[in-house]
Parts: sequence; C-alpha cells; structure tokens
Amino acid sequence: MSMLKPIPSLLLALAFAAPAALAEPPGLGKPIAETEIKAWDIGILPDGTGLPAGSGTAEQGAKIYAEKCVACHGEGGKGGISAALVGAPPIKSIDATKTVANFWGYSTTVFDYVRRAMPWMSPRTLTDDEVYALTAFILAQNKIIGDNDVMNAQTLPKVKMPNADNFIIKFPDKI
Ligand code: HEC
Repeated sequence: MSMLKPIPSLLLALAFAAPAALAEPPGLGKPIAETEIKAWDIGILPDGTGLPAGSGTAEQGAKIYAEKCVACHGEGGKGGISAALVGAPPIKSIDATKTVANFWGYSTTVFDYVRRAMPWMSPRTLTDDEVYALTAFILAQNKIIGDNDVMNAQTLPKVKMPNADNFIIKFPDKI
C-alpha cells in the first residue's frame, strides 16, 4: 500500500501545473493591425452606424448602373438574369417574390449589401460615392425617395422602407 501513496500528490502537482501550461500561447499567427481590421469591419447598422463619408444622387447612380449593373439586373432595375431591384409585388404568401421595395426593412441595408457584394463578379470595387449613388438610384426608382434627393450618412438612415413596420423584433431594446 505504501507504494501508492505518492500518486495523489503527483496528481495534485499535475492539476496545478496544467493551467500554467495552457496559458502559454501556441506561438502561431501574429497580431492583426487596426487598418487590416478596418478593411473587414464594414457592417452598417439600421441607424446608420458605420456609414462612411461621401454622397450620391439617383442621377449619378443611373450612369453607374448602366455601366456595372444593367447586364444582370435589367433596364431600370426591372430584373434580368438576376433579381429585380425595382418593383414591389404584393407579399401574399411565404413564396412571394421579395424585393428591396416590398421586403427590405432598412434603407441602410441597400448600401451595406451593394458595397459588400456587388457587382457580383467584382465585389468591393465600388467607391463609397458610387455606392451612395447606386443606393439613391435604387430607392428613387422604387419611389421611396425623390429623384433629386442626396444620399449620405445623415440622409440615408432617415429613409423609411415601406415594409419597415412589418417585422417582428424579438428583442426590440437590443437594437
Ligand atoms: C454578374 C451579374 C451581376 C451584376 C453585374 C450585378 N449583380 Fe446584383 N445581384 C446578382 C445576383 C446573382 C444577386 C443575388 C445574390 C444572392 O441572392 O445571393 C444579386 C443581388 C443584388 C441585390 C439584392 C437583391 C435582392 O432583392 O435580394 C442588389 C440590391 C444588387 N444585386 C445590386 C446590384 C448593383 C447596384 C449592381 C451594380 C453595381 C449589381 N447588383 C451588379 C448579380 C449581379
């Protein structure tokens, strides 16, 4: 029996040694620079938090649209090989066609989405001014804003989307 006695104390020693061993970093990777984080940190909140400087109008957006978007989204945004960006067919069932105008809850999502995902073949190539202009174009074509309204970090969050009140927010105080 006396042979087994050292075992509990050995286990204890190991138990105390383990956290110290875990605290050692594995020596992989390197700290990320703030500027590198910024390039990925492009989320925009419904209240406009995160919107960059810059501005654009529907007229400017129409020109960019004709160059970079029309091939897929069709003349005037009415749809082509890709989704219609203009038009609001009524939502009568879960299978209804959901568009920016009949479904999207926040105007700032248009900016966020176009900047991060479009044009489909070369996302993240648009300047912030171009994205504001395209956002203005899409909203104006849908008659959600006027043709001459300037979209920027102050005006865009104030644009209320037609479907904004039809979402059920589970934790309203969290947004
Ligand atoms: C090569 C084809 C192509 C081009 C060019 C293109 N898009 Fe798209 N776009 C798509 C596809 C495909 C989707 C659907 C993506 C998905 O559902 O994941 C889409 C989705 C969208 C949506 C969301 C529509 C919705 O109701 O869900 C918007 C807004 C949009 N594009 C804007 C633009 C703008 C603005 C441009 C020009 C800068 C552009 N797109 C250029 C293919 C394209």
